[in-house]
Amino acid sequence: MDAITATQTYLVQAYQRPPFVLEDGHGVWLRDTAGRDYLDLVAGIAVNALGYGDPELVAALQAAAEKPLHFSNLYHSQPMATLAQRLVELTPFADRVHFQNSGAEANEAAIKFARKWAREQYGEGKSDIVTFSGAFHGRTMGALAATPRPKYQDPFRPLMPGVRLAPFNDPAAAAATIDDGVCAVIVEPVQGEGGVHPASNEFLLALRELTHAHNALLILDEVQCGVGRTGQFWAHESYGILPDLLTAAKPLANGLPIGVALASERVAAAIHPGDHGTTFAGGPFVTAVADVVTRRVADPAFLTQVRETGAYFKERLQEINSPHIREVRGRGLMLGVQLDIETGPLIQRGFAAGLLLLNAGPDVLRLLPPLIISRAEVDIAIERLSALFADL
Ligand SMILES: Cc1ncc(COP(=O)(O)O)c(C=O)c1O
Repeated sequence: MDAITATQTYLVQAYQRPPFVLEDGHGVWLRDTAGRDYLDLVAGIAVNALGYGDPELVAALQAAAEKPLHFSNLYHSQPMATLAQRLVELTPFADRVHFQNSGAEANEAAIKFARKWAREQYGEGKSDIVTFSGAFHGRTMGALAATPRPKYQDPFRPLMPGVRLAPFNDPAAAAATIDDGVCAVIVEPVQGEGGVHPASNEFLLALRELTHAHNALLILDEVQCGVGRTGQFWAHESYGILPDLLTAAKPLANGLPIGVALASERVAAAIHPGDHGTTFAGGPFVTAVADVVTRRVADPAFLTQVRETGAYFKERLQEINSPHIREVRGRGLMLGVQLDIETGPLIQRGFAAGLLLLNAGPDVLRLLPPLIISRAEVDIAIERLSALFADL
């Protein structure tokens, strides 16, 4: 049976997919089974940082595949230890890491760590989590409770209790919401799914001060904006604040499932053997690959290139002459184009024009290309996007 018919017949219909089948890729390009090429401005939703077919990554995958893929967290492994050390050394506030399999799971870990820490320090009753409008932290029940969107939450109620909601980028509202009953505040430095909205400096600073004042932890969700996406290794580096917990996932292994919660020593000290775990996470195969990705992305020259190409892409997007473009925003290669129309038709027409595009909400076009995209490839993207806008 062909892939499209079999997908429609045998998969739970939780996704809508366009009518072609991807099978190959090189650099920032993907090819379908009919031989059509697509310039990829999605990167598997901010995952494929090094694009497709990177020779060093392929060699690392092949070498790791010769060894056991998995032997569980019951035993030591060098690749896991090496990656943990690299991540801690790249993250000034962090002393320890706990590996997961996805972004949602990393946030589950962070929420559990915060509750456990608060319980050990202050006893019961300090267990609330504060989240913000527009946030996306994942689809598992804990992360979902902190993802305040009726479409995602309502069908699955009752949600995990103990979550408070405040408006994003509103320091005064945050001050009115955070009190001594709060164990942690979770926030994305740049909201992704919510429409590519960077947090303001004063907002993140206020959250840091408020969490200090009320003995609560600050959790930064860098699942989408972290690991080089904004042109810094961590998006929060430009804000001059340090969190207590940070979660990352998507690009860490360029497509293999991985998540991580990074914690300061005082938080990590609350977690003891048996408190939290998962069978697959931190396996030797995935961590060996993630170590290569992390090392490559953390290279200052690589990050400079992301900043420069991102600035160029933003500038060129601003030049597109369309009455439907209201604003171009974002950092590095995490860009959002605010439209006054729905993105759906543009994304659909993009397929025919050889462009993979993504939305963030109904009216924001979200551009998350592989971080290796060149200026020449940005020019191709702009040429194709301009034609799409002209046809609208
Ligand atoms: C900021 C943020 N947090 C968490 C998640 C959930 O990650 P995952 O889909 O790997 O569970 C996402 C996914 O889009 C995300 O953008």
